Amino acid sequence: MKRDLLSIKALKTEEIDYLFTLTEELKTKVKDSSSALKGKSLGLIFQKPSLRTRVSFEVAMNQLGGHALYLAPEDIKFGTREAMKDFGSVLSRYLDVLVVRTFLHQQLEELAAQAAIPVINGLTDLLHPCQALSDLYTIREKKGYLKGINLAFIGDGNNVAHSLLYGCAKTGVNLTVASAPKFEPKSEIVRQAQEMAQSSGAKISLTNQPQAAASGADIIYTDVWTSMGKEAEYKRRKKAFQKFQVNQELVALAKPDCSVMHCLPAHRGEEITDAVIDGAHSIVFDQAENRMHVQKAILLFLLGGD
Ligand code: CP
Ligand code: NVA
Repeated sequence: MKRDLLSIKALKTEEIDYLFTLTEELKTKVKDSSSALKGKSLGLIFQKPSLRTRVSFEVAMNQLGGHALYLAPEDIKFGTREAMKDFGSVLSRYLDVLVVRTFLHQQLEELAAQAAIPVINGLTDLLHPCQALSDLYTIREKKGYLKGINLAFIGDGNNVAHSLLYGCAKTGVNLTVASAPKFEPKSEIVRQAQEMAQSSGAKISLTNQPQAAASGADIIYTDVWTSMGKEAEYKRRKKAFQKFQVNQELVALAKPDCSVMHCLPAHRGEEITDAVIDGAHSIVFDQAENRMHVQKAILLFLLGGD
């Protein structure tokens, strides 16, 4: 049966471990994978802008010997030109795997159900699993382990926060999400993560105090306050998150060797200052690079390449 990657929720902890071991082999070139996906084609559907996800998947596919095809929104008219069933069936006859970035998570699930090929979530309003998997890989790479790491996510309870909740719960990372009131992560996702955390021992908590979350943290993570699609709420969000900026004072509360992460794109001067993003604690560009390495492992995992 084909396997999709729509949410980290559907991955077993051992599968995440496997993906990270494979990523390491691919990144350090212990494994020659230059023709692992020869003759395979990846379709990329983006209903929202993207730099990292699009480029890293295209390059990953090329480096694995396959081919990537960008399907422009104005050509395919995703979800409006034809029934999802027809769309999914046709693409399944040409392609071997799809990456989809869209608004409604439900639309992604619908396509995955109709397509005979693996579908990878390239970000929805609800989740961003490839991001969170790459982030956890980056933490493991930098710190040497995951279980017991204290991660403070400072900002909007958005798609990235949701996927980190699942990912941390599965891998034993203690996660505190500090959000402004009314912008907390979805309670259903927090509840599910807390349930999953019972097996890994991770502590999952929420607060409205950024300082409390940052104190003693190994990792401080932030993301934009206004995600793609929510631009009409920009002013309201900027006001609500005024005290949530990741700046040098906040970083000073964390462990002396703490790392600062951001999935990018960043709004410098809003959720993070220049001094922090360009400073000694920042690992944001290693984090961005790892998207490509982890996604190679995801492609091999789903397509059964070796
Ligand atoms: N972090 C991330 O997904 O970036 P893009 O929106 O540029 O793909
Ligand atoms: N939360 C951000 C992530 C961008 C990669 C957004 O959805 O716009």
